[in-house]
Amino acid sequence: MTVLVTGGAGYIGSHTVIELLNDNQEVIVVDNFSNSKPEVLNRIQMITGKQLIFYEKNIEDRMAMDKIFKQHAIDIVIHFAGYKAVGESVTQPLKYYHNNLSGTIVLLEVMQENQVKNIIFSSSATVYGETNRVPFKETMTTGEASNPYGYTKLVLEKILQDLSQSDPDWSVTLLRYFNPLGAHESGLIGEDPQGIPNNLMPYLTQVAIGKRPKLLVFGKDYPTHDGTGVRDYIHVVELAQGHQKAIKHNLEHQGVAIFNLGTGHGYSVLDIIKTFEKANQVTIPYEIIDRRPGDIAIAYADPSKANEELDWEAFKDLYTMCQDSWHWQKKNPDGF
Ligand code: UFG
Repeated sequence: MTVLVTGGAGYIGSHTVIELLNDNQEVIVVDNFSNSKPEVLNRIQMITGKQLIFYEKNIEDRMAMDKIFKQHAIDIVIHFAGYKAVGESVTQPLKYYHNNLSGTIVLLEVMQENQVKNIIFSSSATVYGETNRVPFKETMTTGEASNPYGYTKLVLEKILQDLSQSDPDWSVTLLRYFNPLGAHESGLIGEDPQGIPNNLMPYLTQVAIGKRPKLLVFGKDYPTHDGTGVRDYIHVVELAQGHQKAIKHNLEHQGVAIFNLGTGHGYSVLDIIKTFEKANQVTIPYEIIDRRPGDIAIAYADPSKANEELDWEAFKDLYTMCQDSWHWQKKNPDGF
């Protein structure tokens, strides 16, 4: 089978490509390195010993995308490409709406023209918004987000649902990711944020390695067991494996299927700090400051639908995730 992966050089994309290559799928990656590095492709080949086909293109480049679809017999697309920094989306909304929406629309038009109507889309737990109660279930009402990045995910989910309504030949899988942590066990690939990290773990590992003086903990007055925010942290390799299972499901079904990819367990920011310290024998200096605007108190998944219908489950514990994140950071202090 031939799988086109947009954004395949990114954090979740690269881990997914490894799983696909190990499963002997033919993989075509399209990435413009807007938030990733070419070295990741060498690392993928080192880990798997397999070749992939790569195009350095923007998915908004209609002619280039059309050519790729004409050159290869693509069975399914996994669409990761998109901007993802929540804070930046607030200060530069047009950049986010333009890139994430236009890029996806061009991709879908090219797919339609070339009769490729199977797509797996990277959505996010952010679509559950601020009013739904945990655990989040796929049947809950969505329609509110707290930032433009979140709205791009909501709108793209809607576009894909409308497309499926208009033409029953489409098979659409919406994967709602919770918070990925960890890295490939080789330590050769992992999360490599450009500039100041937005997310907890890459910031924490940069503190651990001495690049930043201390971790800032956003808020100590949430209604949680220790007052800090609670999230559903999932090992990136298991998240990647969810995509393999989703391919099988997508090809066997038509219409839209939505799945949470999470563990179903919530951990606080202080839980993460303590587990990281214990797992890696390092001390993390931190300071508690005000809440970060837009953050919710608690987010975790009800993953039972994915467990049952995809035959997929995430088992790796926080301890392992912390070890794997640190292994990657120590081996690659400056990223790729
Ligand atoms: N946090 C800190 N300090 C930091 C960074 C984060 O205390 O320096 C806290 C946050 O307040 C939150 C938790 O750590 O309680 C996790 O924050 P992240 O930024 O790592 O993750 P978020 O849950 O805020 O965001 C993630 C994804 C988004 C997605 C969102 C909602 O990064 O893409 O989940 O599902 F939109």
